[in-house]
Amino acid sequence: MKKNIVLLPGDGIGPEVTRAAATVLKECAREFHHEFTFQELPIGGAAIDATGQPLPKSTLDACLHADAVFLGAVGGAKWDSLPVGKRPESGLLDLRRGLGLFVNVRPIKLLEPLRGISPLKSERLGDLDIEIIRELAGGIYFGERGQSAERGVERAFDTESYSTPEIERVATFAYARAEGRSRKLCSVDKANVLASSQLWRRTVTALGGVYPSVKLEHMYVDNAAMQLTLNPAQFDVMLSTNMFGDILSDAAAALAGSIGLIPSASFGASVPLFEPIHGSAPTLAGKDCANPIGSILSATMLLRDGFGLSLEADWVEQSVVRVLANGYRTPDIMETGARASSTSGLMEILHEEMQRTLEHAERYGWGV
Ligand code: NAD
Ligand code: IPM
Ligand code: MN
Repeated sequence: MKKNIVLLPGDGIGPEVTRAAATVLKECAREFHHEFTFQELPIGGAAIDATGQPLPKSTLDACLHADAVFLGAVGGAKWDSLPVGKRPESGLLDLRRGLGLFVNVRPIKLLEPLRGISPLKSERLGDLDIEIIRELAGGIYFGERGQSAERGVERAFDTESYSTPEIERVATFAYARAEGRSRKLCSVDKANVLASSQLWRRTVTALGGVYPSVKLEHMYVDNAAMQLTLNPAQFDVMLSTNMFGDILSDAAAALAGSIGLIPSASFGASVPLFEPIHGSAPTLAGKDCANPIGSILSATMLLRDGFGLSLEADWVEQSVVRVLANGYRTPDIMETGARASSTSGLMEILHEEMQRTLEHAERYGWGV
């Protein structure tokens, strides 16, 4: 298979975790005889420093012509005083917009060797396996905003706004995902207060007629945040708006042990985007201690969901679980008795484990 992948390392730990993902993708290409070409381009703060823009036109153009885009993370203190629209984070929002990405899938899945580091007791945690489907192209992130000052009083506003088609397209995706899993869909909103949420709820309910096998439940976002902590096992596929999905996925990530473990995939009009859900973690940058697993699992989503290469994705995922089962841990997922690893140390161990997994699979078959 011949594919062209654009890498957007970004800021903070972004370059470190992107390097980890690219290493794994290159190893896949080598062992499975694919031809992946990589093009690395600036986004976020790095792009502001280089070009004055958080998303240079040349970066967006290359992404539009790629088979898949992989992003590390953007943002950092250096650019925090810039106004909304000029910040590194705007580069990411413009990229999602520019690629027409309206759905973001965030799988929150317990990696069994990490059960002990979850802040939840094992009985409450259950077999944590939730898929959060986050709307990505609308809502308050892209609504009308502004600011004013009157007689010394400053005011600023942002607008949450959704149209029926915007809700339908992401809900259709969520129903289809639920059909392929346990046929349970929980749509999260704030319909007791917000008009946009009332339309959201009506639209998601109406679409249920097309998916009679899926059991739909609605939940208010405040309760959903609490239920995630009290009883996450009740959830399978969760659907929500851009902002609620952002917040709930960080909360749910903590249940798995660290935000550094959680990958994501975004789909829409054409080219898909893959990125870990964490940010640039400025305090960890350059210290070789960031957890690369969220980024690596984003690469496996690229392989499986982007290119249909499930064997390759299984290979990497099984190897990651074996590395964890052997006790190797970055600081964010450290526990007593485990083996402390740096980012690069973990990558070396993973490389060895991938080779062993490959030999094992060639001899005994996959999934053993
Ligand atoms: P963050 O996700 O960067 O960090 C939150 C916490 O998780 C921190 O304690 C951090 O050290 C830890 N963490 C995050 N990733 C980790 C990893 N891979 N390994 C180990 N620990 C990890 O969120 P924040 O601190 O709120 O934001 C920092 C910057 O990142 C801000 O500029 C923000 O706007 C930006 N941000 C970018 C993205 C993105 O590019 N997709 C996402 C979220 C935040
Ligand atoms: C994420 C981040 C982004 C978001 C920011 C950096 C724009 O928090 O991907 O979760 O809010 O979508
Ligand atoms: Mn976020």
